[in-house]
Amino acid sequence: MLNMKGARGGGANRNAHSKARMSPYPQSTVERSHVPDEKVSWRVEWHEYKPVEYTAAAILAGPANPAGRTGLGGQGLLGRWGPNHAADPIITRWKRDNHGNKVSHPVSGKDILQFVAIKRKDCGEWAIPGGMVDPGEKISATLKREFGEEAMNSLEHLMVYKGYVDDPRNTDNAWMETEAVNYHDETGETMDNLTLEAGDDAGKVKWVEISDKLKLYASHSQFIELVAKNRGAHWSEDGDQGYHG
Ligand code: BGC
Repeated sequence: MLNMKGARGGGANRNAHSKARMSPYPQSTVERSHVPDEKVSWRVEWHEYKPVEYTAAAILAGPANPAGRTGLGGQGLLGRWGPNHAADPIITRWKRDNHGNKVSHPVSGKDILQFVAIKRKDCGEWAIPGGMVDPGEKISATLKREFGEEAMNSLEHLMVYKGYVDDPRNTDNAWMETEAVNYHDETGETMDNLTLEAGDDAGKVKWVEISDKLKLYASHSQFIELVAKNRGAHWSEDGDQGYHG
C-alpha cells in the first residue's frame, strides 16, 4: 500500500495538496480562490473563506432532471446529484369486523383495504412509511429486519411504481425516484401478530382505510390508488371515475 501519511492530516504536507490548488482548473479558465499553505487545514478557522463554485457544463448536463426545468440548480436538500432513491413499502390487509369477515363499502360494494401509515414529523402529513435508500440497497432488507423474514415471505409482493417522483425538493440536477412495493396480507393473520412501532422520523403509526378521501404526503395518494385498483378494493364512491391511472 502507498504511504500517504500527512495528506489527510493537518495539511502540513504542502506537496500532497498543491496540484489541488492550481489554477486555472483543468479544461477551463476558472481561477480558484487562493488558499495559502497555513490555511489548507479545515481545522484552521477561516470565516471569510469563500471558494469559487464550479461545475463543468457537461457534468451538469449529465444529471439533468428527466421531467424538465425546475427553476433551481444545484442539489438543494438532496444528498446526491442525479437520482436520489427512496423506497415506499405499502403494507395492506382487508378491513374486517369482529368476526373476521371482510367489510365492504356501503356505496361501491367493494371490500375495503387498510394500509400502514405514519404521521411524518417533518410536515405532519400521513404517509407511507418510506425512506431514503442507498443505490443498490433493497427496501425488502429493511422490512425483513423490521417485520421478520418469515412475515415478509408470507406476504404477497406487488411492484406498484418505480421511477421519478414529483417532489418539492427536486432541482434541475437532483431529484427523487422511488420504488413503491405493495406487501399484502391476504388473511390478515401475519400482520395481526405484529405490533406497529414508529421509527425516529415518524410521530404515529396506524392502519388507515384506503379511499380517494385520503390526503397524503407527496405522490403517495397515487400509489395507494394503484394498489386499491389492482386489488379490486374500494377506492371512490363514484366507481372508477376517481381513477386517473
Ligand atoms: C419519502 C418517500 C417519498 C419520496 C419522494 C422520500 O423522502 O420517504 O416516502 O415517496 O421521498 O417524495
